[in-house]
Order: sequence, then structure tokens, then C-alpha cells
Amino acid sequence: MNATAWKDVEAAVAVSKNKTIKELFAADPDRAKRYTVEAAGWTLDYSKNRLDATTLMALLKLADLSDLKAEIEKMFTGEKINRTEDRAVLHTALRNVDYTKRVFVDGKDVMPDVRGVLEKMAAFADKVRTGAHRGFTGKKIKYIVNIGIGGSDLGPVMANIALTPFGKRNIKCFFVSNVDSTHLAETLREVKADQTLFIVASKTFTTQETMTNALSARAWLVKELGDEKAVANHFVAVSTNADEVSKFGIDTANMFGFWDWVGGRYSLPSAIGLSLMIYIGPRNYQRFLKGYWKMDKHFRTAKFDRNLPVLLALLGILYINAYGAETYAVLPYDQYLSRFPAYLQQMDMESNGKSVDKDGNRVAHATGPVEWGEPGTNGQHSFYQLIHQGTHLIPCDFIGFCKTHNAIGDHHDKLMANFFAQTEALAFGKTAEQCRAEGDPEELIPFKTFEGNRPTNTLLADDLTPETLGSLIALYEHKIFTQGVIWNIYSFDQWGVQLGKVLAKNVLKDLTAEGAPELKHDASTNALIARYRKVLGRA
Ligand code: F6P
Repeated sequence: MNATAWKDVEAAVAVSKNKTIKELFAADPDRAKRYTVEAAGWTLDYSKNRLDATTLMALLKLADLSDLKAEIEKMFTGEKINRTEDRAVLHTALRNVDYTKRVFVDGKDVMPDVRGVLEKMAAFADKVRTGAHRGFTGKKIKYIVNIGIGGSDLGPVMANIALTPFGKRNIKCFFVSNVDSTHLAETLREVKADQTLFIVASKTFTTQETMTNALSARAWLVKELGDEKAVANHFVAVSTNADEVSKFGIDTANMFGFWDWVGGRYSLPSAIGLSLMIYIGPRNYQRFLKGYWKMDKHFRTAKFDRNLPVLLALLGILYINAYGAETYAVLPYDQYLSRFPAYLQQMDMESNGKSVDKDGNRVAHATGPVEWGEPGTNGQHSFYQLIHQGTHLIPCDFIGFCKTHNAIGDHHDKLMANFFAQTEALAFGKTAEQCRAEGDPEELIPFKTFEGNRPTNTLLADDLTPETLGSLIALYEHKIFTQGVIWNIYSFDQWGVQLGKVLAKNVLKDLTAEGAPELKHDASTNALIARYRKVLGRA
């Protein structure tokens, strides 16, 4: 992190932390207006933060001195900014719906390939939706089972739930990710083989969980339909690895490709979104991409003091690095966004969960936070107590929509009343005087007093559509990118997940070995493996 700029932030915070959010509002009647910005269908009100003008200026300077502008250009123009994997980072090219703009990697314009895959996806999606693509016995496809994990699962699941109002209701989508056989078994109980399309989604096509699930699903299908040839009608692949797809037994004509410059957790707008495109249709999918594109354009061109992703990133840095906040909550007030926090967990924590800077040195400051959340109002009856009155500082992003897709009585007004009331309560709290005025007995005053001064951002859009969802995802992608730039860490690799994968392979050998293998792990792991083997009669 730029040391000089950070010192200025700390100096500004030393002053601003003495003012509560309530005092900041009292001192500036225009505060709400001043700290509200709009882009790509979203309004961000960040006025309920521990932020004054000097702190904001210092944070903006931090962004400038971190060369953020230049780094953004490097990403959008296909420079190999993912140095540890020697790759460009070009998920923005996937939704570059302005097809006149060319995007180069290693001197080659990638846009014709991007367009080509989108067209192939759209043609296939239409065939499935209209019934032109049939199962082996001639029946229409009624069930889609996406088999993938991490970035090849979380995005498709999240978006599929989020865009249910735009989905074809007579197609049911399922997502199998966990290598736990229960996940596959329970899914197969819900579908009929002759009406099911399996989409095996894996960037590498070597991920243990996905390959295990895909092979078992394949065996089930062949058994159910009694013919190996059925695989051709019921299995397609989404991957960058044509060789492995062929080895698996899927004709590469039924493969939808993408490229090494698309990171797994950023891959939803690539062919990884095939299940979503089949469900909501190519036209809605195009709107989804357009939403991303609008936020991409905003991020690339807006001044930092009006730039939604940059502002969210700087506020995150303020709380993580100046206030020591270790987590932040994302609280969508829309049931359709129930999996959005889980999707963001991978995006944020796999990207910025790093402790070594770009020069290979240990960072001298905290980096990526723990991200968590649940849809409102469920969270209110669960963990909000801690956010309101606990000892931890937990900045929150509240996400809501003015309109609902399911107008029943006054549900939506009640939902949104809670949405607005929570940020008000968190910021302004409740004083002892207010409690007394309401007649609370003196001995209960300490318990019923709310300090307030809890920071929140409010993100509000008219309604949840493919477009606003696309923009929302891009907003967080670019927020995370901005933080990585300022922390000077590599946000697009994930070496931290490799060790567990390698060790699991070694342990698997020991779990399944014939006879009495010599266990060479630590004493704890050896004892646990021995206990497992004994129960299964392998001791
Ligand atoms: O968890 C590690 C990871 O590599 C993620 O980054 C990725 O999204 C996931 O595994 C799945 O990988 P693949 O799509 O190659 O199966």
C-alpha cells in the first residue's frame, strides 16, 4: 500500500473518528445528497459511514497514488496482470456488448471468439427451450443438472435463483457441486434420465469433485437408458480443456469453450453461464451481459469520487485498515438474492485472501476481509443483534429494490421498511435519553441503549432484472479489483487452494489402500485415518 498516501488517511481518520455518523449528519444538511452516486441502474448512498470530506479526499488520493487508473486500463486492454499465472484478466471482454470495440490478447482480437461462443450457446439454448434438442428417447429436456464447483457452480446457482422470474418455469435447474455423494444422489432422485441434460462445467476439466460427480452421473444415465450412445444427447461440457472433454467421452462439438484469461470466480458471463442462458433465454442473457457492460464502462470512465466500485473499495479499506474491521456483511433484501453472499464469498475471499504482495514480501497491512450475509429480514432475527450491540465493528452493504416481482398485500412495503429502518438504527442508534423518554426503567437503560455509529452502504435499484443483476456483480468484481490494486496483491490467482487438493489425494490413497498401509502423516491425522478404516473394516 502506498505509505505516504496511507499516512494521510490515518491522519484524517485520527480526526474524523472523533465524530459520530450522527454528528456528521447534523453538521451537513446536504450530506445524504453529497454522498449518493448513481450508475448502471444502481444508487449508492454511502452517507451513513464514518467518513468526512478530508478522509474521503485522502482515500481518493490513495487510489490515485496506487496507479489505479493505469491498472484499470491494463486489465481492460488485456495486459497479463495475473503475473503468477502469466495470464491476462479479461472477464470484461465477455460482456463487451459494444462489438465495435476490439480487445487484444497476445496480438489477437478475442472478440470474434467471444461472439462465436455466445452464438453457439444461444443456438443450443434455443434448441433446448423449444424442444428441438431432444433426449435419447425423443423426449423434451425438462431438467438441467449443472455439475461444477467454485466458480463453475456458485455464479450459475446464484444467478439462476436471482433470475427465477425470467426463467422458463417448465425447465428445472439443479446444481451439483459437493463430492459428497448425497448431493448427486438427492438430485438424481428429482430428475428423469430421459428428460435430463447434464452440463459438466469445469474450466480445467480436472477438478476432482466435478469429475467424480460427472462420471457417476454418466454411469447413472447409461444404466437408466440402457445405452452408452445416450451420453451424446444428455451431456454437454463447458471448459477450456478440449482434450480432457474428449477423454471424458463428450464430443467437442457439444463443448462450449472459454479461455485462460477468464478466472473461475469471474466466469459467470462466459459459457459457464450456459445453464442460466437456457433457463432465462438468450435475450434475457444478453440483457444480463449489458448490465455488466454498463458497470464496466462506468468503472473505466467515471471519476473516482463518483465511481461506485472505487468508493465501495475505499470504504472497505477504511474499515479494514484504519478501524481493524475483519469482516463485512452483505445483506440483500430480496429472497431471489439468497445466494448472492455465498457467491461473493468466493469472489472476494479467493481473490484478496492473500498475505504476500506483488514483490513476494509479506504485506504489512490487513487484506481481504471475511465476507458473509443472509437475505433480510431473516438475518435480523439471527445475527443483527451482534451488529447492533456487539463488540465487533461490522460494516454492512444493504442491497434492495423499490419494486417486487411478487406483489402480495403489503409484504414489500414491510420488507423495505425494515431495509431502511435497519441502516437508520445502525447509524443513529438510540440514546439513554430516548429510552428514558419511552419509560424504560433505569436498570434497563444500559441494555436498551444503542450506540449507533455502525457504518452501512445502501445499494438501491428499481427492480431485480437481468440487467441490474449484471451491474451488481460487476460492481463487486471491480470493488475487489480496486482493493487488490491498493493493497498491491495479486487478486487473480488462488495458490492457497492447491495444497489441500494435493494432500487430499495422498489421504485418499491411505483410506483405500489394501492391507495395512504405513501411515506417514502427523499423529493426529494418522489416528483419524485409522479410526475411519477400522469402522469400514479396512484396518
Ligand atoms: O477452488 C479453486 C478453483 O480453482 C476455483 O478457482 C475454481 O472456480 C474452482 O476451483 C473450479 O475449477 P474448475 O472450473 O477448473 O473445475
